[in-house]
Amino acid sequence: MEALRNYINTVRHDFAKQKLDEHDVFENPIFQFAKWFEEAVGAQVIDPNAMTLCSASKAGKPSARIVLLRNFSESGFVYYSNYNSRKGSEISEIVENPNCALLFFWPELERQIRIEGVVHKQTPEESDLYFNSRPRESKLGAWTSEQSKKILNREVLNEEFEKLSLQYPDENIPRPPHWGGYLLKPSTIEFWQGRPNRLHDRILYSIENNNWKIERLAP
Ligand SMILES: Cc1cc2nc3c(=O)[nH]c(=O)nc-3n(C[C@H](O)[C@H](O)[C@H](O)COP(=O)(O)O)c2cc1C
Repeated sequence: MEALRNYINTVRHDFAKQKLDEHDVFENPIFQFAKWFEEAVGAQVIDPNAMTLCSASKAGKPSARIVLLRNFSESGFVYYSNYNSRKGSEISEIVENPNCALLFFWPELERQIRIEGVVHKQTPEESDLYFNSRPRESKLGAWTSEQSKKILNREVLNEEFEKLSLQYPDENIPRPPHWGGYLLKPSTIEFWQGRPNRLHDRILYSIENNNWKIERLAP
């Protein structure tokens, strides 16, 4: 343990690959996101669509986990999950805290993107469309798991999966009512590019009177 602790203190990485200038970025952050996402794919970042989703309870207690980005547009960023999960309950109308943050970290490019905004459920039709495109096993998985609930052991899951597999023998599996898409509508998006001497580039887009304002932040 001691050696590991010493090692942690020695991990140091000077960022030097690229720069980010406010005069070179797109006026619209969604276009800037698309450009960086494409570059992340090009750089063979593993799971470039994996992002940290941070939600919070009504009292403001935060919680974070990885989810997969499945779509994005001018309207926002889409991921899919279980409506009754911990994050689902925190975001739901009952708890009334739809404020969330998303975070991408692409170390291969020395880049981070921070997104903050409000989350809404997608329409049932939009969720159906995506659910129907999933492999059969993923569909069964969505039915099987009461995400975030405590369970006795692994067998509970396996048995439920087998039971559902017999119930739905082919691809024709309806979307569970407790599973679907969420859209995070951003109010701020920050692009972070690592630079030498810890003097990183940070370009912040924020919504002001329905327009995106671009500012630079100190690193
Ligand atoms: C690479 C990766 C991708 C994941 N993708 C999703 C996802 O798209 N949706 C989801 O609900 N959980 C996903 N998870 C699992 C979540 O991190 C988390 O364990 C789960 O959603 C329960 O979180 P909660 O109890 O805070 O609600 C993913 C985990 C990893 C590591």
